[in-house]
Amino acid sequence: MPQHPSRTDDTSYARTWPEGFLWGSATAAAQVEGAGHSGGKEDSIWDAFARLPGATADGETPEDAVQHYQRMPEDVAIMRQLGLNSYRFSTSWSRVRPGDRAPNAVGLDFYSRLVDELLDAGILPWLTLYHWDLPQALEEKGGWANRDTAYRFVEYADDVYSALGDRVQHWTTFNEPFCSSLLGYAAGVHAPGRQEPCAAVAAIHHQHLAHGLAVDGLRSRGARHLGITLNLSNSIPRDAADPIDLDAARRFDSLQNRVFLDPILRGAYPDDTLADLEQFGLRELIRPGDLDIIGTPIDFLGVNHYHDDLVSGHPTDEDGDSHAGGAPRPTSSPWIGSEDLAFPSRGLPRTAMNWEVNPDGLRTLLVRLGEEYEGLPPLYVTENGAAYDDVVAPDGAVHDPERTAFILDHVAAVGDAIDQGADVRGYFVWSLLDNFEWSWGYGKRFGVVRVDYGTCERTVKDSGLAYARMIAATR
Ligand code: NOJ
Repeated sequence: MPQHPSRTDDTSYARTWPEGFLWGSATAAAQVEGAGHSGGKEDSIWDAFARLPGATADGETPEDAVQHYQRMPEDVAIMRQLGLNSYRFSTSWSRVRPGDRAPNAVGLDFYSRLVDELLDAGILPWLTLYHWDLPQALEEKGGWANRDTAYRFVEYADDVYSALGDRVQHWTTFNEPFCSSLLGYAAGVHAPGRQEPCAAVAAIHHQHLAHGLAVDGLRSRGARHLGITLNLSNSIPRDAADPIDLDAARRFDSLQNRVFLDPILRGAYPDDTLADLEQFGLRELIRPGDLDIIGTPIDFLGVNHYHDDLVSGHPTDEDGDSHAGGAPRPTSSPWIGSEDLAFPSRGLPRTAMNWEVNPDGLRTLLVRLGEEYEGLPPLYVTENGAAYDDVVAPDGAVHDPERTAFILDHVAAVGDAIDQGADVRGYFVWSLLDNFEWSWGYGKRFGVVRVDYGTCERTVKDSGLAYARMIAATR
């Protein structure tokens, strides 16, 4: 349970945060940019997937998103007004290399202008190369199930580095490979919407490989801050005395956390993961030298955390899968080989995503990572935030006390983790803007800034104002 009562005093954080701590916000290209087919951009898998009947809520697509492509200077001005010192964004592979053919000068110029605008505003650019939007042309050649895609990723990364490497210091290879492998290729709830467990396992391994190859490649070109962002969740057995629940929690931890953490931080898949995924061909995918490449040292680990999971192996206890994604079309389970996993409720408050609110879980996770992984690089909370059903007050303001409490309580949990020895160096709230929440469409609003989807007008919500006051109080 949270150690703190819910925070309402948003200036109570004038505590000692580490020197240079990053206070930022995060977005992703496909979720905010729009201009889905302008400036030379071609289809990504999310453009193609969203056109499938029933793939997204109300058939919504990322085509126009929230017009960040057109309104970028205004969005940077908002960040400056909030006092943010960093901004996590992603580049779109399909804008940079449409159809994965050749670099697109117009697309690269957009990111170049964004970086300049940020630097002029005193905001550190924190760039992610892959936030789920593979060029559709590559999916048509097998997507992430095809090992060759890893080598195409390196070429794309190289193009981005050539354009921005003189000004961008912080490079993240992948965002949440759990989603772009298991949700995309096994559950089918994310693009490309495939329900092929062997392809999902291949996607995991090939994304790892792409990560390692890109880290090596960018480091050889001079990049000094290279890392990856994983979505991690504490796996809590419903009944720690029940061997069935204990094994379910182990299997959940394997697929949600360790299949990603271990190859990247230790250069090896866990033995139990290898055994569990044997039937889906994991061992055969690993070629000599792969794990050395994948385990190449990183300079930071990005942690996205929204909720923990109480896990049971008794499916009758099932209370809905928080990872299911929201698409109305028929979907499968991301828990390949472990379809019996159940996620009972702990009775905690929930966000509009039906995710449990438990800030202390973030503290636990950050501390535990340092205890379990020797030589862990510095951590950054690269995403944390909450969707709620906002109401616009008659005066146009958005009073969102639940989101404000969510953010401040989680920031407090980060402070507690630091006090307990975790080397955490930044916090990025998800998200700057309301945006395209993947299969859920635009209805789930995560922004600290409201977007009127009719006019695209931006309004800073009370939570954004509170976050800004909190940041100001730390100075
Ligand atoms: C994680 C993803 O990286 C981001 O794209 C998504 O919108 C948030 N979680 C909220 O679901």
